[in-house]
Amino acid sequence: MSDSTKKSVRPFRSARWFDDKAHADHTALYLERYFNFGLTREELQSGKPIIGIAQTGSDLTPCNRHHKDLAQRVKDGIRDAGGIPMEFPVHPIFEQGRRPTAALDRNLATLGLIETLHGYPIDAVVLTTGCDKTTPATLMAALQLDLPAIVYSGGPMLNGWKPVSCEGDADSKKQEHEERVGSGTAIWQNRERLAKGELDYAGFMDASAESVPSVGHCNTMGTALSMNSLAEVLGMSLPGCAAIPAPYKERSQMGYHTGRRIVEMAFEDLKPSDILTRQSFINAVVACSALGGSTNALVHLLALARTLKGVELSMDDWQQYGEDIPLLVNCMPAGKYLGEEFYRAGGVPALLQQLIADDLIDGSQNTVTGQSIAHNCEGFQVRNRDVIFPTEKPLMEKAGFAIMRGNFFDSGLMKKSVITDAFREKYLSHPDHPQCFTARAIVFDGPEDYRARIDDPTLDIDEQCILAIRNVGPIGYPGSAEVVNMLPPKRLVKQGITCLPTLGDGRQSGTSGSPSILHIAPEAAAGGGIALLKTGDRIRVDIANHRVDVLVSDAELAERRNALQVQPLVNQTPWQEIYRNSVSQLDTGAVLETEEEYVRILDEHPVGRHSH
Ligand code: FES
Ligand code: MG
Repeated sequence: MSDSTKKSVRPFRSARWFDDKAHADHTALYLERYFNFGLTREELQSGKPIIGIAQTGSDLTPCNRHHKDLAQRVKDGIRDAGGIPMEFPVHPIFEQGRRPTAALDRNLATLGLIETLHGYPIDAVVLTTGCDKTTPATLMAALQLDLPAIVYSGGPMLNGWKPVSCEGDADSKKQEHEERVGSGTAIWQNRERLAKGELDYAGFMDASAESVPSVGHCNTMGTALSMNSLAEVLGMSLPGCAAIPAPYKERSQMGYHTGRRIVEMAFEDLKPSDILTRQSFINAVVACSALGGSTNALVHLLALARTLKGVELSMDDWQQYGEDIPLLVNCMPAGKYLGEEFYRAGGVPALLQQLIADDLIDGSQNTVTGQSIAHNCEGFQVRNRDVIFPTEKPLMEKAGFAIMRGNFFDSGLMKKSVITDAFREKYLSHPDHPQCFTARAIVFDGPEDYRARIDDPTLDIDEQCILAIRNVGPIGYPGSAEVVNMLPPKRLVKQGITCLPTLGDGRQSGTSGSPSILHIAPEAAAGGGIALLKTGDRIRVDIANHRVDVLVSDAELAERRNALQVQPLVNQTPWQEIYRNSVSQLDTGAVLETEEEYVRILDEHPVGRHSH
């Protein structure tokens, strides 16, 4: 169909700005300034949809920076399909660079994008995603408005490599080999070497740089690759998009196809609410376990479901649908490969094809193509069984998140796919109670306190201890910090004890392989019982029964609560105050709780009022 004969399902909202004959004075004001960079009245009054490109790339967000170049191919696709592209910036969110934490900015970027999309003449939007929270932040805005939207991720970096020397051939000459270095994961490993004294400051910096060989987001199955894979599982990106490495030609080709498709979606008026159902989210929960996905994905999926009103998703769903799913994808931190191998093995469509065939997910769910997931995945298959394992012979059985409850909190989680054999052997193999251990708590009030005291010999930390950290949740930190994966004291690390049990009301990086008990809610700053813990308390962790209890009487806990001194919260910026006053806990997605329910905003408020 030629562009001029294409008809949209309903009138484009951009016409209310650019072609409103009843309000010529307003229309002239809206139109004229767009001419100054060369757009014409013919274009803007042609009836073509205006397609926003929500640009998350910037010098401050290096994981997404190449989107500034990729956007050109998206624009080419939009033009070829009969749309008019308009690119605009999104509030930067860089996971590793934002202090105090990028988590503070997910909701801020969402609010900013909602205002941009609602306030300007945009008919549909391409969400450029990548670094951890850019995916949920932009998706939440599109869901809240219910505007046709498509996810276009920037893709993972190429593999990092480091030389490894080993005694090799028959001549006993040294052979140089290489080992994969995964982003994020390498830093957690290198900090152990720093603590042991195997690396000095400069060596630590150099070793960390080995994991960054090209443009792109983290190449491990951290939060970025998890969230972009799950956006694809949800049906919000074109099939195959998530895993294409950032520098591959297929990445920019995908940009072109995405640009073309969003124009068709604008004409079809194919909205997030036409795609996403409760079942799509259950599919994503299942896929997250099979991927060995990030613990942060749980928070973001809860937030997305809450934003899309009418779809219920809870911690219980993660327990019911996620925990018993096997680990199939062999990527760091749970496995050994990186984004490149995942892509070459078939990526998300190959995994989905398998999960559908094994009846683990429902392939009938709709997607941005207007077709079902099952239809989209036809023709894809697993090309490397060392990267994507068969369901009947997985990398690990029952490898999802265990949702934990206890006598001092309502909910938390433990990522079972990263429990190592050594950890299992030491803590989870008692013949009488194999999935249960009791440990002495060492309690820290935030990461500064942890750093100041972890090597204090009077704490007498040994392998019978559990490290606990609090006041690092959404309200306490603010934003919830990725600090629960605490390293043991240097003294123990030097003896080879690199992992102790940990728990906390914050998060940990998706690239970390620590089997911590995370996301404890309610957090200390919201009056949670974790505020009552004391160093020396005995804590019993019972994974089989999903319990974490402090072995202290109720009467003693009540006494401690009466004596509790509430820590004053110091806000450094106005946004920190606004955020703290309205954020929910991690078990409900850490979303902003507004007094009014803003349900699918464009349904009731397609445009704002004129202002001139
Ligand atoms: Fe940006 Fe990992 S820090 S993707
Ligand atoms: Mg991260």
